Parts: sequence; C-alpha cells; structure tokens
Amino acid sequence: MIKIIYSYNAENVGVSAAKVMADVIKNKPDAVLGLATGSSPIGMYSELIKMCKNGEISFKDVRSVNLDEYVGLSKDHDQSYSYFMHKNLFDHIDIKEENTNLPCGLCKDPEAECKRYDKVIESMGGIDIQVLGIGNNGHIGFNEPSDYFSLGTGLVQLTDSTIDANSRFFATRDMVPTQALSMGVGQIMASNKVLLIAIGEGKAEILEKALFGKVTPQVPASILQFFKGEVVVCADRAALSVIMKKHPEAVKAN
Ligand code: F6R
Repeated sequence: MIKIIYSYNAENVGVSAAKVMADVIKNKPDAVLGLATGSSPIGMYSELIKMCKNGEISFKDVRSVNLDEYVGLSKDHDQSYSYFMHKNLFDHIDIKEENTNLPCGLCKDPEAECKRYDKVIESMGGIDIQVLGIGNNGHIGFNEPSDYFSLGTGLVQLTDSTIDANSRFFATRDMVPTQALSMGVGQIMASNKVLLIAIGEGKAEILEKALFGKVTPQVPASILQFFKGEVVVCADRAALSVIMKKHPEAVKAN
C-alpha cells in the first residue's frame, strides 16, 4: 500500500518523515533503520536529532544500515556517505558507532565487500524501515535504470545523469566518483516498511512515473508499487505537483 503525505514545504516534509521514523523507534527500541544520504533526508535527520535531544526517542539500541557509499572515497572524505551520516545524524544522537553500518568505499575487493555487506544486512534479521530518496532517473539507493532489478549489494556504475546531479556537491564534475556500492533492490524490498522522501519540482515527473507508471527496472523505484508492506511517501507540494494533477485522490494532507 502506498500512502502519500503532502507537506507544504521541505521543512514540513522533515517533520512528517521524522514522525514516521520516531513511531518505528518507539515501538521497537532496537529497530533496524535503513538509512539514506543526499539532500532529501537532511530535514528529517535534524528533526530526529531534536527528538533525541529532548528525550522523546533514543537510538541507544537502534542499529542502522546505509544504502550506499561511493567507491574511492575514505570515511573522512567530506563527500563520503560515512562522513555525511556522522555530520547529519550520528554525531548528534546516542547511537553506538558499532551499531552503524555502511559499505566501505575504500575496500580493495569490491566483490568481497558486497558479500560482507550482504551478511551484515542478513545478520540484522530484517530492516524495520528503509528510508529512500529518489534519483532524477528513478534510482533507489544507487540502483540505476537497468534491464533487471538487482537482488543483493552490488558494485554499480553511476549513470551520467546521477553524476551530473551529484556534481553539485563537488568542486568539479571530474571529482564525482563514477562507481558506488549499493544495497540491492531485493534487499530494499525485503524491508518491513519504506519511507520515500521527495522534495522539489525536479522530482515531480519521476515520482509520478515511479508510483503510477509501469513497473520496470528502467524506473527502479517503480518496484515499490509491488511492496508487500506500507510505503509512506513524504513529499512537498513541488514534488507532488504532477501527482496532484493526475491523481489528486491519492494524496493525503499532512
Ligand atoms: C542516497 C541514495 C540516493 C538518493 C537520491 C536522491 O543514499 O541512495 O538514491 O536518495 O539520489 O538524492 P537527493 O536526496 O540528493 O535528491
């Protein structure tokens, strides 16, 4: 079931997405959180930090697995996803460092690293909630448009459109890594709940295509239409503009 929650702006998206996450943590203090990076979840992370600081929630028994990491960037590189997670969440909450997991971007043997990460995910006994953003091309994690849906963690070649989109964080386009390690679509689909966050007009077309169009690996996020549990979509009015025009009945006000 897909539940679309409309928020007026990005700030309100952060608040409503944080509520969804907080409910999971309150119900299960040792929840396994599947986490994402990028601009979409930043507002949610800052709300979760506030909730943790005011004692509403605690991450002391929470475990986390991130979706992806760039190949070639060390943990302390300021564009690595490990650095991002520490800066935007982990350093400000009571989560234990040893309970946080990301693929290693500097691994010598990507194949072995993918296997290791598969084992990490498996050993957690299931992801309680998986946070996702959506790429301009419909990717989830770094699962780019393809002829098939990936099952487990894999080494992926980033598409030009993803490299273009992510070059906004780097001094020059040449500095954007061209490969990443990403959790597979199969692992995302095995989680108990999905929280998809989309902000801004740039996501409006692809969000409609993913949630209402044909299910195809050419739009990886479209597989969420087949998700067994609940997919909560927290999005702002700009990201929902096409959906509100074509499927107004599907959108719930926050
Ligand atoms: C990030 C990730 C990506 C992003 C997507 C959207 O860990 O896996 O799929 O969620 O590229 O990025 P933003 O939020 O920056 O628009």
